[in-house]
Amino acid sequence: MSEKKRIAVLVSGGGTNLQAIIDAQKSGIIKSGEVVLVLSNNEKAYALERAKNAGIKTITVKRSAYTEGQIFKAMMDEKIDLIVLAGFMTVLSEEFTKEFPRRILNVHPSLIPSFCGKGYYGLKVHEEALKKGVKVTGATVHFVNEIPDGGEIIFQKAVEVADDDTPETLQKKVMEQAEWILLPRAIEKVCSEM
Ligand code: GAR
Repeated sequence: MSEKKRIAVLVSGGGTNLQAIIDAQKSGIIKSGEVVLVLSNNEKAYALERAKNAGIKTITVKRSAYTEGQIFKAMMDEKIDLIVLAGFMTVLSEEFTKEFPRRILNVHPSLIPSFCGKGYYGLKVHEEALKKGVKVTGATVHFVNEIPDGGEIIFQKAVEVADDDTPETLQKKVMEQAEWILLPRAIEKVCSEM
C-alpha cells in the first residue's frame, strides 16, 4: 500500500469538523491520509484542544501577526500533501491557492452557488438562508481556488429546513446531516486518488 498522504487541517473555532475527521481516521473511513498538523489563526480555538487530545501537532498563528507566509512555511516544513479548511475563517489569496492546485479542500455550510462567496461564513450563511425562506439547504465540499467558494465541487448533500428553524438549529442540522459526513469522505476520495 502506498504511504498515507500528509494532511494539514486549518481551523479558527470549535472544530467539530476537525473532530469528524479525527473520528473518521479512527473508524477507517479515512485510510489513505493522516492528519499530521492542525493550524489555527485563533489561539482560543477549541479545535486546538481537540487536536491535542488526539495527539496531533498544533501551530497557532496569532490573528494580529497572521501572514500567509507563515502558513506556507508550515505546509512546506511538514511536507503537507492536502490542506483542509475546516471552519477556517480567512480567505486565502490567489498567490497562496495557486501553489496548491486541487490540494486544498473547504467545507461550506450551504449548497453552492447559494449563500456563498465573500462575507458568507458560519452562522451568517444560515441566517441568510432563513431570510430567503429556502426549504432546502445543505453543505458543499469543494476544491479551493482564487475565487471564494468558487472551486470545483466534490460533494454536496441537501438538508431540509423546518418552519421553526433558527440559524443555530439549522447550523446544527447541516453539520450533523451533511458536513461531518461529506468532509471525511471527500478527504478519503482526494487522498486515494493522489
Ligand atoms: C462550519 O459550519 C463550516 O462549514 C463553516 O464554519 C463552521 C465551522 O465549524 N465554514 C464556513 O462558513 C466557511 N465559509 P467547526 O469549527 O465546528 O468545524
